[in-house]
Amino acid sequence: MAEKNLSGDVYYPPNGIVKNAHIKDWDELNARAHDDYQGFWASIAEELHWYKKWDAVLDDSGKPFYKWFVGGRTNIVHSCLDRHTEGAHRNKLALIWEGEDGAFQSYSYFALLRETKRFANVLKSLGVRKGDRVTLYMGRIPELAIGMLACARIGAMHSVVYGGFSVEALHERLEDSHSKVLIVSDGAYQRGKIVPLKDIADEALQRAATVESVLVVRRTGEPINMESGRDMWYHELAKLPIANVDCPCEEMDAEDPLFLLYTSGTTGKPKAILHTHGGYMVGTYATLKYVFDIQEQDRYWCAADPGWITGHSYIVYGPLLNGATNFMYEGAPTYPYPNRWWQMIEKYGINILYTAPTAIRGLMRFGENWPNRHDLSSLRLLGSVGEPINPEAWKWYHRVIGGGRCPIMDTWWQTETGMFMITPMPCVALKPGSGTRPFPGIEMDIYNEEGKPVGANEEGYLVIKTPWPAMLRTIYGDPDRYVEQYWSKYEGVYMTGDSAKRDEDGYYWVIGRVDDVIKVSGYRLGTAEIESALVSHHDIAEAAVIGLPHDVKGNVIHAFVILRAGAAPGEHFIEELRQHVGHEVGPIAKPEHIEIVDSLPKTRSGKIMRRVLKAQALGEDPGNLSTLEE
Ligand code: WTA
Repeated sequence: MAEKNLSGDVYYPPNGIVKNAHIKDWDELNARAHDDYQGFWASIAEELHWYKKWDAVLDDSGKPFYKWFVGGRTNIVHSCLDRHTEGAHRNKLALIWEGEDGAFQSYSYFALLRETKRFANVLKSLGVRKGDRVTLYMGRIPELAIGMLACARIGAMHSVVYGGFSVEALHERLEDSHSKVLIVSDGAYQRGKIVPLKDIADEALQRAATVESVLVVRRTGEPINMESGRDMWYHELAKLPIANVDCPCEEMDAEDPLFLLYTSGTTGKPKAILHTHGGYMVGTYATLKYVFDIQEQDRYWCAADPGWITGHSYIVYGPLLNGATNFMYEGAPTYPYPNRWWQMIEKYGINILYTAPTAIRGLMRFGENWPNRHDLSSLRLLGSVGEPINPEAWKWYHRVIGGGRCPIMDTWWQTETGMFMITPMPCVALKPGSGTRPFPGIEMDIYNEEGKPVGANEEGYLVIKTPWPAMLRTIYGDPDRYVEQYWSKYEGVYMTGDSAKRDEDGYYWVIGRVDDVIKVSGYRLGTAEIESALVSHHDIAEAAVIGLPHDVKGNVIHAFVILRAGAAPGEHFIEELRQHVGHEVGPIAKPEHIEIVDSLPKTRSGKIMRRVLKAQALGEDPGNLSTLEE
């Protein structure tokens, strides 16, 4: 690859990195995977633990309900933990954690397995069984990962709700998943303050009826309400004889559900994306190994939140499947000062840093002096995810953080894909702002409206043409919506919801969402969830929400509201509305601007034309208005 003459601004891979990398020749790997993608994935699956080997790699007879490693028996946690505790690896650090307040914890593979078993037995004592759903609503603390692994170990599906979400968002997710147990931390440290997670959960539980028990993990020690008969402290149950460390993995079918993760889609409520034990295990293991080139001595840090897919695949499962040493940090990047991250990279000797463009842009604002004060020479590879990275931020990241020597893995993927789909590897030549090409074994394309591939440098819809092991299996409880949302625009092809271009070298450039999903600071939000929070305010009759470009956050939310007749908004009304959205959905969903309007542009069938609102706000041509009502 390195020899080829590529057009544009190109960064060729440093020799030293390629020499020791798992994958030294992308073209060779790609050719092998292309010839027989099922055989390619099967050979990777062989590296993991199976109680019984699969009968068939792929069953596409019920497509788009694909099945992978059919007939195989496994449990992802066995490959994450048990298998690493058999030899010398048992003493290797699996997790190093630093709290925002300077607290510290670390777990060897042996210790992480022991704590997972203990946690699993506590869950069993609360009546959690294979197939049950358990919601986790916590800060970034080790118990979040342990709780997820404990659920998976006993065959229960975890549903993690990001700790930045609030009352209504949590309520909806608890109710839709029919969770039996909620695991919550008493609170979470964020920018030196405490987010009262248990209080928020109490309010959500008043609205949700399915939860039988609440397991509370202590982090802050602040006084909280404990409802007798419902709420139990984890540390108290963990002392009982029932919480012993005798807890074998539940043997699962490869296709048995592993977890649900709610994400925003085109319309309506957030939907629960379902991933399974077998295929997800193979996909996350292989992609992390090849892309971040995990080596035995590495210390790897993915700075995402476990509450999003990046955290599921590349904080919890992928690194443990690879036997890596994982670093996790609880708090904000700039607390107490903007050098917090750089300080920790130096202190722990981090080799791989994986974060989001919004974080890079946010830290860039504080200037180079903050990182320059620290020795960042341990870094070998950098990563980016969540939204397109602008070349300016890419170059700053490369030069200032990576010292010009660390290739940047710009990974494009989704909650639905479970694993990286468009991504470089350390041996691939990079162009700032492009994720390069699809991962070997995955066929992607860019289509026009009619489903024909577009030409070089033309914009179109990004689609996926081959099934892949970590693909979502369905939307939990709504298989029709799964088909409708992803597989109906083009026959037999997965629609990503993104638009993209491909240049003359075959490099992909993702532009952004083409639906009603808004990426704010890399977080995925749906217009519908924010609009319904706005109209749940007593003074609001109707609302419409759009995303507008922003230098640091990528996008910000702009809301248009129509007041209810007789509403008499006071002086602080706009701020009150923002707080209301924060309280219902979460602080990240608070609109940056709210405009009070008399009417909203609608189609004759009554659908709000957000496209028109956006064009107006940006001073652009709104395009075809023939369907506009008036
Ligand atoms: C966007 C996050 C450009 C994209 C893993 C996608 C990206 C959505 C990139 C999924 C990237 C993610 N470059 N855009 N490297 N990575 N996206 O489900 O719009 O939270 O469809 O998964 O993020 O967001 P999700």
